Amino acid sequence: MENLVICGGRRLSGEIDIQGAKNSALPILAATVLIKGESVIHNCPDLSDIDAAIKILRHLGCKVKKEKNTLTVDSREISCYNIPDALMREMRSSIVFLGSVLGRTGMAVMSSPGGCDIGLRPIDLHLSSLRTLGVRVEECHGTLICKREKQLAGGVVSLSFPSVGATENIMLACALSRGRTVILNAAREPEIKDLADFLNSCGCNVEIGSHGTVVISGVKELHGCEHSVIPDRIASLTFMSAVASSGGDVTLNKTDSSSFMSVIPIFEQMGCEIANRSNRLRIRMNKRPKSVMDIRTMPYPGFPTDAQAPVTAALSVAQGTSVLVENIFENRFKHIPELQRMGARIKIEGKVAIIDGTDRLYGARVFSPDLRGGAALVVAGLCAQGETVVEQICHIDRGYECIEKSFSQLGADIKRIIV
Ligand code: UD1
Repeated sequence: MENLVICGGRRLSGEIDIQGAKNSALPILAATVLIKGESVIHNCPDLSDIDAAIKILRHLGCKVKKEKNTLTVDSREISCYNIPDALMREMRSSIVFLGSVLGRTGMAVMSSPGGCDIGLRPIDLHLSSLRTLGVRVEECHGTLICKREKQLAGGVVSLSFPSVGATENIMLACALSRGRTVILNAAREPEIKDLADFLNSCGCNVEIGSHGTVVISGVKELHGCEHSVIPDRIASLTFMSAVASSGGDVTLNKTDSSSFMSVIPIFEQMGCEIANRSNRLRIRMNKRPKSVMDIRTMPYPGFPTDAQAPVTAALSVAQGTSVLVENIFENRFKHIPELQRMGARIKIEGKVAIIDGTDRLYGARVFSPDLRGGAALVVAGLCAQGETVVEQICHIDRGYECIEKSFSQLGADIKRIIV
């Protein structure tokens, strides 16, 4: 088991390169299953979730080569359509393989993902959309069996909520099809556009409309391509949260601030100075942050739920009271009791967190409850007085490339220890 040990209270300064987006890389890796050829994916973050995706690809018969941040996937031969339970359980997002395995082989058998650390994560929208498109879906004792008799012919799917995963699964299931599929109320996250760009580079025709419409004109066969994954907007927002609460002067390189425009004003309200130039963003903070009233997590382009926990950590040392509403997931406040152990004054009322800023957090032994909750504890530990030990950091490793290395590079006192 590994822990992070942080001696808080240092200002952060310097430059850092932002990793590729986990939430783009995973569906793109799933998409490689559709391709009768070789895909070269650059800027793929080195994360345990990516390793879990590689295991699934190899199980399906793909040959995968990993060289630093470039993955080469040869999917000429696919040998099966089932994903064993153990591989599905390694990563909740493995459900995104449903669309691609089905699209490539006509059949997909895998376990239902069930609940997870941030609450129940149903896949009813994924399944009802596939049914609408003519896929036979059976659920039997926790196993999903999806089958299409012939190539899908397209159709119109209207999502009752713009689910990211459901949008991706429909795109993947329909990339190899005979017809035109229209998704209404599709997710608009930048990772959806990245998946569309990848599929288009492979010969598909996916158009992203302006009001949450995605149109997929399926093709008979897709060819390999080279693609570079977009920068991780949540990693950028995590580093920005750390600067907001610890103070400092940090430049994020290889980022794309256009993918988190709606969040920049929140950091400005906290008192951060932000200078934004093409793919670089400089954030400076020289004082205690100010509170922000009314932050609501929403589907893109609204405030991302994945940034809620790190921003909560930053606001816990703000001057004044902040109010944050979590609208996307039902159980995404598990980091709050841990922040309270560090002295944060936060009350939870249903999906609302009321953060009464304190001028100081204190180091404590805390437990990383999930990926972004773990990142929040690192943000808190960096600005806290004394030593913080973050346990269960396997969650953090799912989404951040060596988080301790990144923060050490910025002058923080943080190390990983094996216990
Ligand atoms: C993706 C991201 C995750 C992010 C989330 C919301 C990946 C790998 N993960 O997750 O980091 O927090 O988007 O931006 O890209 N829902 C249903 N039925 C469904 C599908 C979803 O009720 O069939 C609900 C979920 O329970 C949740 C909400 O819709 O409350 C959002 O889920 P969704 O957009 O699907 O998120 P994911 O794709 O799971």
